[in-house]
Amino acid sequence: MRDQHLPGSGASSRRDALLARERAVLAPSAPGHDHLVWGEAHGALVRDIDGRELVDFTSGILVANIGHAHPQVAEAIARQARTLLNAYDAPHPLRAELAERLVRLAGPPIEAVALLTTGAEAVDACLRIARAATGRHGVVSFSGAFHGKSLSTVAVSGLPSTRRGSGPAWPGIVVAPYPNPYRPPTGAAAEDLAGWCVAFADDLIATNLSEPPAAILVEPYLGGGGCIVPPSAFFPGLRALADRHEALLILDEVQSGFGRTGTMFAFQHLGVAPDLVAVAKGIASGVPMSAVLGRRALLDALPPGTLWSTYGGNPLACAAALATLDVLTTPGLVERVGPLGARIADKIRSWDDQGIGDVRHAGLSFGVELVTDRRRKTPDPERALAMVTAADAEGVLILPPAGWHGNVVRMAPPLVIEDAELDRGLAALRRAFDATARR
Ligand SMILES: Cc1ncc(COP(=O)(O)O)c(C=O)c1O
Repeated sequence: MRDQHLPGSGASSRRDALLARERAVLAPSAPGHDHLVWGEAHGALVRDIDGRELVDFTSGILVANIGHAHPQVAEAIARQARTLLNAYDAPHPLRAELAERLVRLAGPPIEAVALLTTGAEAVDACLRIARAATGRHGVVSFSGAFHGKSLSTVAVSGLPSTRRGSGPAWPGIVVAPYPNPYRPPTGAAAEDLAGWCVAFADDLIATNLSEPPAAILVEPYLGGGGCIVPPSAFFPGLRALADRHEALLILDEVQSGFGRTGTMFAFQHLGVAPDLVAVAKGIASGVPMSAVLGRRALLDALPPGTLWSTYGGNPLACAAALATLDVLTTPGLVERVGPLGARIADKIRSWDDQGIGDVRHAGLSFGVELVTDRRRKTPDPERALAMVTAADAEGVLILPPAGWHGNVVRMAPPLVIEDAELDRGLAALRRAFDATARR
């Protein structure tokens, strides 16, 4: 393997100077985040602070689904900033319009919306609503799940790396196995992996909880868990389990929403009607905004005045979200995601690389699991981390390594990426795989 080479690391680079200043005064970021100092970004291209251009296979961590600084979004933000920047939690003309559009786009059973600011806040709000609506507090979450970094979302995380250092969770949380087809849980029935995991969750409820849970909280695919796409029977199985226990089924669509998996929301192709959906990231193309979508009765469950925050429904964020939805609903854009995702995954699978154990995708969200031994599936986290800097050096930006073992290379290009940009990014990615290959 080549030495890890940090691009642009010449003594005089503006990048190094800035990183040194940041390190002195900021909390440390996670590995794989600070190899690049962003200068500007447009569409699917990012320019670093030293002027180098890269193809963006991250969408800025699955936020810029319609590309960076889309002109319609930038114009809407500028116009709104001159008109009304903050309205506390008061009504303003864009708030109802956005809520109506989200309800329309989601379709039944979604009837109402709460507008908040971050993904973790939206998941937290779902859990609070579930407590209020059921009068219970238990939660079933899943191994490998990532729901954010607030205390409550860390408590329901299924990734040990996220929970570390946060102390005990509240009683009544059980973490069930997520049906991972590449690394099935020990003893799982191969012919019915989804059913086995649902039955396991049911057993956990029976043996660990003194009353039924308030909610089952699940991602449509594991994002931070390494882009793990479960068998399609999983979600109907979870719906039945939730119904049997009169618990809410909460879908965390913070990263799967807004076209990422080939429909506006992933639940629209999963064959289940969730009770609550948490969304964020792609909703406003980079202006902080999140939302809880759900049935009217559920959004009414918390007492008035307890589900709002300073920036929830902020006019600037609403303007950015409405412009984002205008672009996202352009005919053909979201429809492009499925076929394009399959094409990219096939291309990566065709690369003759001993270290690639598995290639997975949910629409335009990809995970490439790196192993040192294909038969034993021995995780290769060192190479996954080296891939981030190698890809950067070759001219493509990828996400920090993901997954339980930290050995999954993750990518999520903007939905609007042009064919030439995609080809350029894939060629750079291929060179990065070659550069990090173990010989
Ligand atoms: C599935 C999922 N849920 C929740 C979150 C937390 O969102 P935020 O970082 O906006 O709090 C993330 C962020 O990556 C996520 O991927």
